[in-house]
Amino acid sequence: MNDLLLQAARRLREARWIVCLTGAGVSAESGVTTFRDALTGLWSNFDPEQLASEAGFAANPGLVWRWYMERLETVERVQPNAGHLALARLEAATPNFTLFTQNVDDLHERAGSRYVNHLHGSVTRFYCTSCREEHHLQSDERHQPLPPHCLHCNGLVRPAVVWFGEMLPYTILKEAWYAVEHCDVLLVVGTSGVVYPAAQLPFTAKQYGATVIDVNLEPTPISEIADFYLPGRSGEVLPRLIEAMLGEGD
Ligand code: OAD
Repeated sequence: MNDLLLQAARRLREARWIVCLTGAGVSAESGVTTFRDALTGLWSNFDPEQLASEAGFAANPGLVWRWYMERLETVERVQPNAGHLALARLEAATPNFTLFTQNVDDLHERAGSRYVNHLHGSVTRFYCTSCREEHHLQSDERHQPLPPHCLHCNGLVRPAVVWFGEMLPYTILKEAWYAVEHCDVLLVVGTSGVVYPAAQLPFTAKQYGATVIDVNLEPTPISEIADFYLPGRSGEVLPRLIEAMLGEGD
């Protein structure tokens, strides 16, 4: 794999514009279970639609609120890992680097990435379902059995995460399409490539002639079309790849 990694690193070094798409496999290295793995234990008898959808929230706002408060606490408890740090190093060293993430945590930001485009929103931000005003979560609200009410219109407050069936943030998605259609290299890390429209991005990049590098524990539909599939843990492969690209070594 080392030779493949060095070739991928060389490709990154030559690129005018590098775009990166990350998924749950990056945060997994920090101990944040992937969305699907998180449905274990007492949450195992719920399906994602019940916990991550408008209908689920309307039907049982307390259940959904508790699920997201638990995920928020997990995110706040863990630290960014070597993979997050490697991508922050890449951003600092590369004039033309754009990061899109499907992750709803703030670990890229806490690792030092300055510009993080969240395709699926953020579990650390909240807004009112009625007037859509941003809501600053008060510490006591985390432990309430029900979501808080908006200070402006008394509407119900929800997490700023994109739920099943909801549109992704239009501006960010439009920027992502443009980026993958014009970049030289798309670095995909830790995503199963099954949740659309984000999962379409690597295929579009390939269609428009970009080199696709896929880092994942196991092969996925993206690995099939990737120019370089680098198997392994993102927390191990990314630092080595970025060091090979930026370090002294060839
Ligand atoms: P998934 O849980 O679907 O896939 C995680 C991917 O990461 C899999 O391909 C794993 O093989 C890989 N993986 C796991 N641990 C890894 C590690 N340590 N190193 C490298 N790879 C690893 O997560 P996503 O593809 O991100 O949406 O899922 C996309 C979206 O589906 C999520 O953003 C979520 C869910 O609906 C929302 O939460 C809105």
